[in-house]
Amino acid sequence: MNPPKTDARRHHDPEVRGFASDNYAGAHPEVLAALALANGGHQVAYGEDTYTENLQRVIRSHFGPTAEAFPVFNGTGANVVALQAVTDRWGAVICAESAHINVDECGAPERVGGLKLLTVPTPDGKLTPELIDRQAYGWDDEHRAMPQVVSIAQATELGTVYTPDEIRAICEHAHAHGMKVHLDGSRLANAAASLNVPMRTLTNAAGVDILSLGGTKNGALFGEAVVVLNQDAVSHMKHLRKLSMQLASKMRFVSVQLEALLARDLWLRNAGHANEMAQRLAEGVRAVHGVEILYPVQANAVFARLPHDVSERLQKRFRFYFWDEAAGEVRWMCSFDTTEEDVDAFLAALKEETAR
Ligand SMILES: Cc1ncc(COP(=O)(O)O)c(C=O)c1O
Repeated sequence: MNPPKTDARRHHDPEVRGFASDNYAGAHPEVLAALALANGGHQVAYGEDTYTENLQRVIRSHFGPTAEAFPVFNGTGANVVALQAVTDRWGAVICAESAHINVDECGAPERVGGLKLLTVPTPDGKLTPELIDRQAYGWDDEHRAMPQVVSIAQATELGTVYTPDEIRAICEHAHAHGMKVHLDGSRLANAAASLNVPMRTLTNAAGVDILSLGGTKNGALFGEAVVVLNQDAVSHMKHLRKLSMQLASKMRFVSVQLEALLARDLWLRNAGHANEMAQRLAEGVRAVHGVEILYPVQANAVFARLPHDVSERLQKRFRFYFWDEAAGEVRWMCSFDTTEEDVDAFLAALKEETAR
């Protein structure tokens, strides 16, 4: 099926991989095969197709009989739709300062969702009940946007992972204050693989009300889903998805990708492999003098601090991003298609460049 490397229609080298982002990876071959199977013939548009119907069954097998999936195009869209579904017009969302919704979504939750974000600095990307309390007040104060939701990411943007107990404590605390809990699970598969627990343990079993479930970073071409876990907490999902421009007309092609990942163990194989590569990378990095790992490596990301000139030379050999350039901090991400050879070649280059 794969065209030869010399095919003139191919404009990149399929053997070149870096450590910039799990979004740099292509789609998993099993996802592409599922897409081909879903092609042909006519299917009802806008989600009334048999692939979306089947996805609902698969989602219920993971998240229980009342879970309902709303496939969307991307993670920002999933977050914006999900957060609107659990807030009033005057509502606010408590989140970590480092949260993707705060730093990497171009203000979409504010501008598109009309939501106020109440942010809290965290040492490692994780909220706690105590940190939430820095913003959880003033419900009767008409001068303040009303805290109505706590949003956490699992895994976090800093590659750390909440334990089920930590999520449960956050949910209990939020619910005790009348707030709901949204979980940005763009990398939920990586967190579940890391802890060796079902995704349900980290979501509805712990009290999460609504989930943005990732597909893209897990091996899809594109596509995520908002998963409603607590039907009583959520309203008007269908209208909000359309209003937010996240309703795919040919939805079967989003749904079949998620089904390919979730129906059997592809989600776990892909996430587990990416995590393993991050562990291999971290282990190698720890042995390199002058490079410091910044956070516990619990998913598929390694954050490190190293001399700026070393990073710059290394970037000429492998793609990766500065996280905080002034502080000399970088992020190295592994994905489902990162190989042991990729990691070892990167480590060899890191050693060479730090020794120069
Ligand atoms: C934690 C987190 N949430 C959500 C997203 C969704 O991103 P996108 O809108 O690019 O699909 C990302 C992507 O990098 C992410 O890291």
